[in-house]
Amino acid sequence: MSDTHAIPATMTAAAARRYGSGDVVNVEELKVVKPTKDDVLVKVEASSLNALDWHFVTGTPYLLRLTNGLRRPRRIVPGADVAGTVVALGPEVTEFAIGDEVFGEIDGGGCADYVVAAAAKLVAKPPEVSFVDAAATGVAGLTAIQGLRKHADVQPGDRVLINGAAGGVGTFAVQVAKALGAHVTAVCSTRNVEMVRSLGADEVIDYTAEDFLAGDARFDVLLDNVGNREPGELLRVLHPDARYVAVSGPKENLWWGPFGFAVRMWWACKRSSQSFHHFIAAPDQDDLGDLGAWLASGAIRPAIQRTVGFDGVADGIAEIGTGHVKAKIVVVPSR
Ligand SMILES: NC(=O)c1ccc[n+]([C@@H]2O[C@H](COP(=O)([O-])OP(=O)(O)OC[C@H]3O[C@@H](n4cnc5c(N)ncnc54)[C@H](OP(=O)(O)O)[C@@H]3O)[C@@H](O)[C@H]2O)c1
Repeated sequence: MSDTHAIPATMTAAAARRYGSGDVVNVEELKVVKPTKDDVLVKVEASSLNALDWHFVTGTPYLLRLTNGLRRPRRIVPGADVAGTVVALGPEVTEFAIGDEVFGEIDGGGCADYVVAAAAKLVAKPPEVSFVDAAATGVAGLTAIQGLRKHADVQPGDRVLINGAAGGVGTFAVQVAKALGAHVTAVCSTRNVEMVRSLGADEVIDYTAEDFLAGDARFDVLLDNVGNREPGELLRVLHPDARYVAVSGPKENLWWGPFGFAVRMWWACKRSSQSFHHFIAAPDQDDLGDLGAWLASGAIRPAIQRTVGFDGVADGIAEIGTGHVKAKIVVVPSR
């Protein structure tokens, strides 16, 4: 490991040492870990919160505890998004140098002053993109681009329906679908209609006033961030060769979360002509590079609800737990 930056022995971080709601997250002093092998140490300039953090903090669905610790979490620091500066390198790292500004999706730990991350999960941050915008983009932007480009293969002119357009994933999905040349119909509640329209949606349906499945419109792609309707109802608004992309589903089942819905939807698609796509977003460097280029050109811009310090992480995660968080909450170290 080589380093020129003075790295302290300890750092401040948000951490949860037991499973529970947001209030198990406290601000703590933790050791700064040195990178090994193909990892880098990043001085964090910003991170952001995702539904993923809520899952890890609550330990639900319980299936997740098989890998994250049955009684208490192994991954104690939230934050799968990171943007910051590389300050130390593991001995096998060749693609980054100390001082490089990077962003990406990592295995948690972003809500801290420093985090060790696999170099393969990061890309260079374009200089014209702020750390805050880059940190808001990782998980949510990757989910949108992979759902729409890789799985739904959205083509110019496709009619894309986005259910749940006002959260982290939805606000990116509206913009990514527009960047791919689609006609976008977005579904959200009254208070978010103007925000979603300002992101470029061609049509916005306020689900509190109108049933988004009731009209005559038919779609080529449905990106479903909510999973709140029956498979038969959803398929009825899709063209015969349409693609249904399951980003999420109802979370009420504490054992397997949204996977029960995904199986029912998969079965419905198997018995119809539409295709079913379910995926977990992955930190692909090509996709991150494209998101970075779109941020730099202004083709997409993160919708950021607010910026908080580590002491705001508990409330932010609790807000995500309501299922009605608006856009992105970004976490910035207070040093
Ligand atoms: N597959 C993957 O790799 C992957 C990656 C990231 C996230 N996810 C999942 O995808 C889902 C979306 O994530 P997210 O980050 O966007 O945050 P989220 O917290 O799940 O979504 C929040 C948004 O959902 C909207 N919503 C809630 N009920 C709705 C309804 N009945 N109809 C339409 N919209 C509704 C809310 O808007 P209103 O307040 O306007 O209702 C809110 O803005 C989450 O369940 C998450 O777990 C999956």
